[in-house]
Amino acid sequence: MANERTLSIIKPDAVKNHHIGAIIGRFEKEGLHIAGLRKCQLSRAEAEGFYAEHSARGFFGELVDFMTSGPVVVMVLEGDDAIARNRAIMGATNPANAAEGTLRKLYAASVGENAVHGSDSPTSAAREVGYFFRAIELS
Ligand code: CMP
Repeated sequence: MANERTLSIIKPDAVKNHHIGAIIGRFEKEGLHIAGLRKCQLSRAEAEGFYAEHSARGFFGELVDFMTSGPVVVMVLEGDDAIARNRAIMGATNPANAAEGTLRKLYAASVGENAVHGSDSPTSAAREVGYFFRAIELS
């Protein structure tokens, strides 16, 4: 199994609902190392750039509105198979389809407001980690 880094975002709904500690605790309990972490308020330009691959989708405006509606926590998770493990811990994008015990089942209300984001591939992880963190900020 490869040691990987992946980007995780605790979205505005989960921050507002005071789930930061529970979500970070879950990652640590599952053996994922927190290699970098920052709480921040995204500008529209930053959210649009991060989600650029979805810019043609009908929900893009809603997605940017939501991601800029309050602070987020951006993190780099590190460990064996971290990309797939993070996605398993998060559960399906739509919480209605998420398995019991996953973060989205526990904390998300809808497909638009779904508590957490996680990189979906090694290519995305490299881009997304680099979008928010410089190498010197990760350890
Ligand atoms: P995320 O993993 O952050 O990546 C893209 C996001 O787009 C996704 O989570 C959802 O929150 C959002 N998304 C996907 N489909 C829809 C939809 N039909 N309506 C609103 N948002 C969506």
